[in-house]
Amino acid sequence: MKPIRKAVIPAAGFGTRFLPFTKAVPKEMLPIVDTPTIEYIVREALESGIEEILIIINSEKECIKTHFSHNLILEKFLESKNKTLELETIRELPKKIHVEFAYQEEQLGLGHAVLCAESFIKGEPFALLLGDDLYVGKDIPATQQLIEAYNETGASILGTLEVPREDVSKYGICKPCTNEMGTLVRLESVVEKPKIEEAPSRLAIGGRYILTPAIFDFLKTQTKGAGGEIQLTDSILRLMSKESIYALSIQGRRYDIGSKKGFLEATIDFSLSRKDLSEVMKEILNQH
Ligand code: UTP
Repeated sequence: MKPIRKAVIPAAGFGTRFLPFTKAVPKEMLPIVDTPTIEYIVREALESGIEEILIIINSEKECIKTHFSHNLILEKFLESKNKTLELETIRELPKKIHVEFAYQEEQLGLGHAVLCAESFIKGEPFALLLGDDLYVGKDIPATQQLIEAYNETGASILGTLEVPREDVSKYGICKPCTNEMGTLVRLESVVEKPKIEEAPSRLAIGGRYILTPAIFDFLKTQTKGAGGEIQLTDSILRLMSKESIYALSIQGRRYDIGSKKGFLEATIDFSLSRKDLSEVMKEILNQH
């Protein structure tokens, strides 16, 4: 069984739920206080043991690339001012990991974005972390939880969370095999954005996956599905006819940064958990 060494982060979508901000700036660059969302996601991958990362962008989202590159002029400036702490803040990540980029020029959907990673993946199983889903894992990072489940099963793993019934039509929803119970369950089926009355459960796919490379065979021939997009969930369903696929209930808190509510919640929670900001945030909240 090949180990999970690579991660793909799709970040090429238009982010229409966050307009007008996303007209010029990617939602994946939305700051949670002072750090872009996508930096947290790259750090989660690193902390989970990932060695190589590919971010899928489009040509309007070059600032994501800039964020993960060295900025020699800024480094020189900070050096000359003896701002060592700030210098370390911007130097640390590019030193730790070299992030690669691929382009999705037409926004045909998440399945199509993942297909853009095929030549980077080169036949290995890989982790997939959506660029606008932020996790604070309980005890260990969300991606590490999935990798541990993969190491146990050797199969594709879909990270899930339980959502209210009225929200099922916003997600890919899992149907566990009969009699499967617990945090790691084998799946019978998945369906993208089902109507409430047709949803097989409230187990939603929550932006974290481990996928075997066989997924590319199905993505290549995937036709458009819900919303007229090439849906990853549809290819996962077809992969299920060939290989077992499991759902793992992720232990931790998820923030959907692509939604205004998720962004606001993350800003408040992350501030409250930071030593330098918790008192300030409490003061702000108390004033309302
Ligand atoms: P979303 O469906 O949340 O992103 O995709 P979106 O389409 O950009 O946003 P809305 O719904 O219009 O507000 C989840 C992740 O997949 C990426 C997005 O950038 C996001 O990080 N994505 C989505 C792509 O890379 N390509 C696509 O064609 C679609």
